[in-house]
Amino acid sequence: MSAFSLAVLASGRGSNLQALLDAIADGRLPARIVGVFSDKPACKALAIAGAAGLHAVAHRPRDYADRDAHDQALFDAVAAVQPDLIVCAGYLRIISERTVRRFESRMINIHPSLLPRHPGLDTHARVLAAGETEHGASVHAVIPALDAGPVLAQARIPVLAGDTPEALAERLLPREHALLVASVALLATGRARLGAAGFEFDGHPLAAPLQLGADNHLRPEPGHA
Ligand code: GRF
Repeated sequence: MSAFSLAVLASGRGSNLQALLDAIADGRLPARIVGVFSDKPACKALAIAGAAGLHAVAHRPRDYADRDAHDQALFDAVAAVQPDLIVCAGYLRIISERTVRRFESRMINIHPSLLPRHPGLDTHARVLAAGETEHGASVHAVIPALDAGPVLAQARIPVLAGDTPEALAERLLPREHALLVASVALLATGRARLGAAGFEFDGHPLAAPLQLGADNHLRPEPGHA
């Protein structure tokens, strides 16, 4: 089979994994998932993978001497399926520099903030604490520095009066799913490419993140076409 192949990493609920599966099933995403990999054997994402009949592998960090040894084991399993792209979709562990370099230009992550604002955890609460009027999600290349790689695409939502971190997270989640599917589709079709200097879109270096429209399509920001 020659379709663009994805290895998905996840640690928790797996709703982004499910969104990828749904998009593949209904023809919106020309790709196939060749494996799901986790640090948490009991997580829901692995159950979703199992139910879908996917190759699923989990390695617990506590069974390894250190981060490097755990990454080595988990990512040897990833390398074995020879993915075209590794998608961190709610993989909640920092990946060692050695492993990031091993898969340089082949690994993306979805992060629930408008990067470069709010790398790291608790993004919804931090957006509210900062009094911001806009929140969102970003799909970015994984580099050794946390949540700091070039950003391919973003989805934006307004912060509403009375929002709680939970309400914001719930409103953002379906936009995250659409963002991830549209981003992976651009990479699968070759419209977007990740190289050493960052992303290219339609053959040109991407100057600013693509933006997700209400129609779930990604477009350049006005002024950056
Ligand atoms: C998402 O909010 C994602 O952006 C973040 O972790 C969450 C994972 O959700 N990195 P799920 O496991 O895909 O449901």
